[in-house]
Amino acid sequence: MEIIKSVKEMQRWSDHCRKQGQTIVLVPTMGYLHEGHLSLMREGKRLGDKVIVSIFVNPAQFGPGEDLSTYPRDLKRDFHMAESAGVDIIFTPNEWDVYPKGFDTYIDQEKLTLHLCGLSRPGHFKGVMTVVTKLFHMVAPQIAIFGEKDYQQLTIIRRMVKDLNFDIEIKSGAIVREPDGLAMSSRNVKLSSEQRKSALALYLSLQQAQKQLLDGETRSEQLIAEATSLILSYPGTVIDYIHICDPDSLEDITTVDRPALMALAVKVGTVRLIDNKILTP
Ligand code: PAJ
Repeated sequence: MEIIKSVKEMQRWSDHCRKQGQTIVLVPTMGYLHEGHLSLMREGKRLGDKVIVSIFVNPAQFGPGEDLSTYPRDLKRDFHMAESAGVDIIFTPNEWDVYPKGFDTYIDQEKLTLHLCGLSRPGHFKGVMTVVTKLFHMVAPQIAIFGEKDYQQLTIIRRMVKDLNFDIEIKSGAIVREPDGLAMSSRNVKLSSEQRKSALALYLSLQQAQKQLLDGETRSEQLIAEATSLILSYPGTVIDYIHICDPDSLEDITTVDRPALMALAVKVGTVRLIDNKILTP
């Protein structure tokens, strides 16, 4: 496995592979890798000839007061994990190469960002879309893979790729969970052992909603109320949002009479966690 830091070198490498007729797969990450990231890399190996993993903690997607400075980082560990997953290149650009002095060009979206995390993290998806666009230009992949854990991010990127005519196929990977059900996340490392117990409430509330739906409760309001009381029964939890919405438009729905996305964000102590599930009646 090779490590590339320079944007120019990344572009040259990609160009060379493309000329040889190879398919390049990009897995964008912010590092502190876990099994969820690795599952995307293994899928990348299956889909293409070369797998590039970008590791870049993107300042543009963190709001003021968010956890940019404390976001977990361990490049050495990341390198070993990516290598074991068969990755060809780790691309770790410098902040000043990604956002050169005077940087003034951003990508944004009008509708999909008005829901879920877009409301509680204003500007977050603008930062995500901008960096993903830049990574697409730097790596020039034919395929890019994103996780369903960040469902809204995946939806927004699919829309952006369509709208801006990127010649890139977007693939998705299922949510990888800990044995007890907690969705894997780089931020889980910040949970104390007490908070780790409370963090399970996210998964349990999604499971409970699916069960209640199968038992005949189709009113979103009721399903959300039950999820709220389950989550708040765990110490140290503060709910940011719980929504049941259309899986494509992300607009709220009142009755779950077709597959619907249940998505939630909960703070456990200072750690903000998200999870989601497609509820099927
Ligand atoms: P990061 O949180 O590091 O996640 C990188 C990719 O891994 C994303 O596509 C995310 O959805 C996926 N992922 C995270 N946890 C997962 C899990 N438990 N199961 C499956 N996939 C999982 O998402 C970002 O970074 C950034 O916003 C990024 C796209 C890199 C732009 O900066």
